[in-house]
Amino acid sequence: MKTKWILLALAAVLAGIQAFPINRELPRSQASEEFHVTENPPDEIMKIMKHACYDCHSNNTRYPWYARIQPVGWWIHNHVLEGRRELNFSEFGRWRAEDQADILRHCAKLVEKGSMPLGSYLRMHPEARLDETQKLLLFEWWKKRAGELETNAVMVRQVTAAAPDTCDDNDANPRCCFISMPGSPASRIVIAPDDEPGKRMVISGQIFKSDGKTPYPNVLMYLYHTNEKGIYARKGNETGIRRWHGHLHGWLRTDTEGRYEIRSIRPASYPDTKINAHIHAVVWEPGDRKEPYFIEDFLFADDPFLKPAERESARKNPGKSPVVTLRANAEGVLEGKRDISLGY
Ligand code: HEC
Repeated sequence: MKTKWILLALAAVLAGIQAFPINRELPRSQASEEFHVTENPPDEIMKIMKHACYDCHSNNTRYPWYARIQPVGWWIHNHVLEGRRELNFSEFGRWRAEDQADILRHCAKLVEKGSMPLGSYLRMHPEARLDETQKLLLFEWWKKRAGELETNAVMVRQVTAAAPDTCDDNDANPRCCFISMPGSPASRIVIAPDDEPGKRMVISGQIFKSDGKTPYPNVLMYLYHTNEKGIYARKGNETGIRRWHGHLHGWLRTDTEGRYEIRSIRPASYPDTKINAHIHAVVWEPGDRKEPYFIEDFLFADDPFLKPAERESARKNPGKSPVVTLRANAEGVLEGKRDISLGY
């Protein structure tokens, strides 16, 4: 008789707690901070991480059906919140490059030891169990990426070592261009904000070493250009070299394949001149002893102010010339390509 009452009471409690479901709404992420955007891992790495880590360590949690049943849902939700607090791959871009390197090394260690993914998770998600090949893939790529991030951190330290007070000059040392660069620039960047007037444009390409064949990862590139009226427009709060370059500027870092992508608006010629429209670009190759330098400006093949030789360059080396041929895609966005070989 007593057992019956206990069971009934338990059933009542279980029914009651169903009125307190978990909040399954996913936190909003910023594309520019997502691990897959800032680090550009190969697809196979991303696939493993999504299966094995992303339910607890990203904003893209896939809740199982039984998360609707309490108290199981509470227990799962707690793991997710705790996992995200420890490490959220959707916010990876917020960390300094040194910290990103540490995190990836730590992940490599946990996966090697078999302590992540969590054991309780694996019982319910056997597909997230990593076999030796997958473990090795993750381990090697995370380690490699950590090394690259550290190289980048060294660069950022070099950058901040450049004396800002020598930078208030249009012809200042190219290092000045990298002052106030974010800790870990992405390979795909947006220069013009959505409210900047002008024709939208995307230029992409790949940077190679001097042999023209070997992809060059981790090259930093600084870009700046005029607005649609031909002016290096300023917001008013610019300091150092930005007082000359204006607010339409950005930094990128080529990905593991040397690729980059720039989204902005199409710049215009300086007012009342016959100078072609252009984007200035400064590159900084990885390595302790390298100094940044200007490469040839990006020009546009349909610019009426091009010199004959420049026009010829676009025709002879399509996709590899500093003179970029722009074509409107289905959405009306201008698209162009420029591959670059560095170090002559
Ligand atoms: C079921 C949810 C879940 C999954 C899946 C999961 N984790 Fe975790 N992770 C957690 C929780 C909870 C913590 C914090 C408590 C702890 O350290 O055990 C954590 C902590 C961590 C930490 C910090 C731990 C420390 O020592 O400071 C790292 C790094 C980490 N996880 C990496 C990973 C990686 C990499 C994967 C995928 C291979 C993964 N996790 C899969 C839930 C998860």
